[in-house]
Amino acid sequence: MAKGFVAILAGLLISLNVWAGEHGQPLEKANNDLRDKASLQRGAVLFSNYCQACHSIKYMRYNRIARDLGWTDDEVVQKIAHGLNKPTDAVLARGDLKAISKVLGTTPPDLSLMARRKGPDYIYSFLLGYFEKDPNKGVWDNHYLPGTAMPNVLEDKYRFADEKVRQQTARDLANFLEYVGEPIKLYRQSLGWKVLLFLFVFFIIAYLLKKEYWRDVK
Ligand code: HEC
Repeated sequence: MAKGFVAILAGLLISLNVWAGEHGQPLEKANNDLRDKASLQRGAVLFSNYCQACHSIKYMRYNRIARDLGWTDDEVVQKIAHGLNKPTDAVLARGDLKAISKVLGTTPPDLSLMARRKGPDYIYSFLLGYFEKDPNKGVWDNHYLPGTAMPNVLEDKYRFADEKVRQQTARDLANFLEYVGEPIKLYRQSLGWKVLLFLFVFFIIAYLLKKEYWRDVK
C-alpha cells in the first residue's frame, strides 16, 4: 500500500518535471498566494494596464472580479475598466484582435484558463523570461517561448525597475491569472479553515459532553 503510494507520488513528480522541462528551461517559482487580496488587486490593475490591449479573460465579468477581490461595482469599473464598461460586461480584449494578429502574426490567446493549463509558475517565468538579443536595441526573445510573437510588454519594468519590483509585478499577474483560472479556489481555501475550526469546536463540545455523560457512570 505504502509502496504503491510512493510509486504514484514518484510518477507524479516525474511527470511534473517533464512538464516543466517542456520548454527546455526549469520554471521559476512564482510563490504567489491566492489569499493575498492586495496582490490580486494589483494583478488585476496590472492586467488591465499591460495585457488587456491584446488578451481577454472572457469567462470573467467585472462584477465577479469586484466581488471576489473586495471592490464595489463602481470601483472595479473605475480601476480596471477605466469607466468604459458596465460591471456585468465580460472582460474582453480592448484592442482590435484582427489588426493585432496581422501585426504580430498570431492572435493573442484568451487567458481565462492559461494558468490552469500551464500553471502560475509558468506565467511568472514567461513574463520574466525575456532577454534582449542585442543590448539596447529593443529586440527581445524569451527563454520559455523562443521566438514568441508576444512583445516584451513589461519592457519598462526590465529597464527602469529593480529586480524585486519586476518579480513582484510578475507574481501579482501570475496570482491574478491563477485566480481567474479557478475563482472558486478562493472560497475553497477559506472554507477549509472554517471546516477545521468547526471540527475543532465540535471536538471540544463532544469531549465535554462525553465527560458529562460518564461522570455518573464511574
Ligand atoms: C501586444 C499584444 C500583447 C500584449 C499587450 C500582451 N500579450 Fe501575451 N501574448 C500575445 C501574443 C501574440 C501571444 C502568442 C505568443 C506566441 O504564440 O508566440 C501571447 C501569449 C501569451 C501567453 C501564452 C504563452 C504561451 O506559452 O503560449 C501568456 C501567458 C501571455 N501572453 C500573458 C500575457 C500577460 C500576463 C500580459 C500582460 C503583462 C500580456 N500577455 C500582454 C500578445 C500580447
